[in-house]
Amino acid sequence: MLPPLTREQAEQAERVMRALREQLRAHAGWLAFDDYLRLVLYAPGLGYYSAGSAKLGAAGDFVTAPEVSPLFGRCLAAQCAEVLGAVGGDVLELGAGTGRLALELLRRMAELGQPPNHYYILEVSADLRQRQQRLLQALPEPLRSRLVWLEALPATAITGVVIANEVIDALPFQRFVVDAGALLERGVGLSDEGLIDVDIAARPALAAELTRIAPGPWPPRYLSELCPMVGPWIASLSAALARGAALLIDYGLARHEYYHPQRDHGTLRCHFRHRAHEQPLLYPGLQDITAWVDFTRVAEAAVDAGLEVAGYCTQAAFLLATGIEAEVAAAADPLSRARLASQARALLLPGEMGENFKLMALTRELEAPLRGFALQDLRRML
Ligand SMILES: C[S@@+](CC[C@H](N)C(=O)[O-])C[C@H]1O[C@@H](n2cnc3c(N)ncnc32)[C@H](O)[C@@H]1O
Repeated sequence: MLPPLTREQAEQAERVMRALREQLRAHAGWLAFDDYLRLVLYAPGLGYYSAGSAKLGAAGDFVTAPEVSPLFGRCLAAQCAEVLGAVGGDVLELGAGTGRLALELLRRMAELGQPPNHYYILEVSADLRQRQQRLLQALPEPLRSRLVWLEALPATAITGVVIANEVIDALPFQRFVVDAGALLERGVGLSDEGLIDVDIAARPALAAELTRIAPGPWPPRYLSELCPMVGPWIASLSAALARGAALLIDYGLARHEYYHPQRDHGTLRCHFRHRAHEQPLLYPGLQDITAWVDFTRVAEAAVDAGLEVAGYCTQAAFLLATGIEAEVAAAADPLSRARLASQARALLLPGEMGENFKLMALTRELEAPLRGFALQDLRRML
């Protein structure tokens, strides 16, 4: 059972529904699922990420690793400092959420004697950007002055590190159904009861892509997702990185695991007030809607864009290689150590965030080894 909407939320959902009805009228009654997501997640003033809902944290709908523990940012800082030690330069964070990762990264990189010249943040949500600016006031002036919020990717490519934690899973994706050999695209329509799933013959680009990724037969009645935006997104990220590394962190799988015959209901998840469910047409504009990342697609796009896939491992392997145990041991007193140890378990355990989350490093002109990927190399799986 999902918690009911407050009156304010119900009014917000009704505004989003009005916009959806208009879009549906303009598109002969059928909206592609990625277009639905563009509206319910990102339409200015309406979408989940562009209107005022709390989103991240205890008062919101979900928590991410930087919200679970400062240990995540401290370990990532060790990797960023290593890259900046080799090439110097800046950090660019895409989709910085509440700003908690930026806070921890800047503090620890400064402690390690390797603060970035600039810490750029590109955030599409005006509301999250304000939250980031409030939180990052806590930094001392010499670090605060390195922060720069961008409206778009930098026109001149940076040297240094690009970071994106749980951003790819937030890109609009498509849904498809393979039924008795027919390739169908699942979109959104309207009935008297409200929004409904409507399957039509897959449009040519999607059909061609499905044939490319699975030349053999699909299992019967197979439902899954595909994110065509990954290619252009990685290409633009590549254009923004002159030299250094991009660290991408997300829940995801290599393609053969993602489209495994037994995963016949896909990976779509919705998050509303810390309840995860699979009903994306519910509460439009008020819940997060995500799908896992096909990391083979990310790697293919990176290679096409001239980047090297320098590492791919689980979050647990990355955090262990970047010193999470030493971070816990260094706690000032037994109580803080116990608290950090419990947070470390949430980040590391296979049943929590340790295995479903992966780290991928994409590099350009970077010879130095990346310590975070020293314990595990899963690139052969891609
Ligand atoms: C699930 S939240 C993750 C937030 C944060 N990185 C964290 O780990 O807490 C997704 C973030 O990506 C942002 N986002 C979505 N699409 C984006 C894009 N194309 N470029 C940059 N940020 C984007 C959202 O506004 C939000 O801040």
